[in-house]
Amino acid sequence: MDNYKIRDAFIKHFGQAELIVFAPGRANIIGEHTDYNEGFVLPFAIDQGVWFFASVNGQDEFNIIAADTGENSTLFPHQNASLIYGWEKYFNQVLMAMAASPLKGSDIVFGGNLPIGAGISSSSAITCGFVHLLNKMNHLEMSPHKMVKIAVEAERGSGVRGGIMDQYSIFNGLKNKAVLLDCRSNSHEFVDLDLDDCHFYLINTCVKHNLINTDYNNRRAQCDEAVSLLNKYYRPIRALRDLNTDDIPKIGNLLSDTLFKRASFVIQENQRVKDAVHAIKLKNFAQLGELLYASHDGLSQLFEVSCPELDWLVDYTLDDDIFLGSRMMGGGFGGCTINFTSGELNDEKINDLSDKYYDRFGINPEIIPISPEDGILQKKTSYSH
Ligand code: GLA
Repeated sequence: MDNYKIRDAFIKHFGQAELIVFAPGRANIIGEHTDYNEGFVLPFAIDQGVWFFASVNGQDEFNIIAADTGENSTLFPHQNASLIYGWEKYFNQVLMAMAASPLKGSDIVFGGNLPIGAGISSSSAITCGFVHLLNKMNHLEMSPHKMVKIAVEAERGSGVRGGIMDQYSIFNGLKNKAVLLDCRSNSHEFVDLDLDDCHFYLINTCVKHNLINTDYNNRRAQCDEAVSLLNKYYRPIRALRDLNTDDIPKIGNLLSDTLFKRASFVIQENQRVKDAVHAIKLKNFAQLGELLYASHDGLSQLFEVSCPELDWLVDYTLDDDIFLGSRMMGGGFGGCTINFTSGELNDEKINDLSDKYYDRFGINPEIIPISPEDGILQKKTSYSH
């Protein structure tokens, strides 16, 4: 849904909007399940995202309409979160995380073009966009770090013990750059994505895994358990980030098979992020592609967060030279692969992939070209009444 339709829905229900916010989704080149291990990630904000049109309404309540479905909700600050589900939960968690701030009630219509549950952070786009909206609407002058912190807290309140990658890149993304984020210091440097003819594409399996919250939290708990065992029997470490690939052969007999696989993946993935940055700077795109494939192997075999549909999509690309690399992206168990290609995918290629995927799984995949765009803090929202 484009922003004009969302604007029209706002006008229909509430009149002219005072404030417009755009919150993008995010892609991640490499560095999966490393953020909550205090490691490195290399995401970027994308063009697709969520628009919010809003006005203060002079009351205590927040009247929110989802333009895509027409659903509406009225929320009050300090409401009981356990009674609230779906997209409302994200708005409500933000209100709870900002309970200490004086907030004026508002009318809001939101919507956009981010597929839900596709691992492109539609929930973080809602959360971050709403935090930014409240910050502007109430002149709170919160720093970017503070807004990221609130957005992370709000999402954790909704059940997933996520890291910081999504919210950080959604706020701080910059056009044509990837965000090399150090998830220990919570600071970043930008990496120029000067890709010549190469492109990134997402391919959405259109599979949503119901257990994602449980499985995600379980992987995180396993990483924590590995850290506490290694702390006791190997050497003092605060997070898996404190180990490097030389440590892997030395820790095998200190952990169960499962924990060893989880830890090995995280250690290798952190190294791959550094190697990927190096490859990008040298414009060694073949190597970048190989790193993506290696990341997928680790996510599938060692971290075990892939699924047959994701594995199939990655395997499909192995037979075609236009694909330099491919891997599952985000939390896993469904969602998208991120693909790095040496040129644009033509219709023939897209149809071939779609037909074969449909024959195998009975599902139509979605192929989405993406490029690094400005995050919330940089985005100029153009709008005329
Ligand atoms: C989800 C979480 C992120 C990150 C990824 C996996 O998207 O929200 O914090 O952990 O999974 O890399």
